[in-house]
Amino acid sequence: MLKPAISASMMCANFIELKSDLDALKDAGIEYLHFDIMDGSFVPNYTLGPCFLNDLREYTDIAYDIHLMVERPENKLDYFSIREGDLVSIHCESTAHIQRVLTRIKQIGAKAGAAINPGTPIYMLEDILDDIDFVLVMTVNPGFAGQKLINHSLDKIRKVRCYLDENGYKDVKIEVDGNVSFENARKMRAAGADIFVAGTSGLFVKGQSIYQAALKLRSAITE
Ligand code: DX5
Ligand code: ZN
Repeated sequence: MLKPAISASMMCANFIELKSDLDALKDAGIEYLHFDIMDGSFVPNYTLGPCFLNDLREYTDIAYDIHLMVERPENKLDYFSIREGDLVSIHCESTAHIQRVLTRIKQIGAKAGAAINPGTPIYMLEDILDDIDFVLVMTVNPGFAGQKLINHSLDKIRKVRCYLDENGYKDVKIEVDGNVSFENARKMRAAGADIFVAGTSGLFVKGQSIYQAALKLRSAITE
């Protein structure tokens, strides 16, 4: 199994106390900052945008995990300051030119990910297996924090892991996004997940410090 990593869902951070949240994430050894980019069309909601992400670089050296939930991501990539070692994912449902966009992400030096919604079949990945570093399995329908895990998600993670392994892509990682609670994270890890997007369920949890929650989440995925 590949080494597990935690990606903090920044739409769930406390924007009034952002600096102290960033410090806590760094102290807890969080590997990535996950930014949900929404366009109000591919998903109904709006959240974070390029100005915020690009400006925040000055205050953190944690790698970015940019999740583009937008129509035609090929038209939006250039708005973001993407660095080597960042993760950038685009949705299989969002563009007719996914192979081209994945290739561009890799040319920039970032890791390219293909995201699939709960209702999107795994075979959508078939012709882009050479172009991806990771698959982002949505375990809720994208657009909102605080949702409940979609039932077939654990099974889907298992199937994606098998599919990748059987086709010779053991190094392609699986990221999971949506209701990654301490309990769900443990099950997701057992099913084959490697990168855990942690929002209101597993990191920015009411009544717990980020540091405490991170320790709990880390132990859930490393046991
Ligand atoms: C979906 C988002 C959410 C969220 C994750 O578009 O990416 O999945 O930030 O945090 P939870 O589900 O724990 O609130
Ligand atoms: Zn996300």
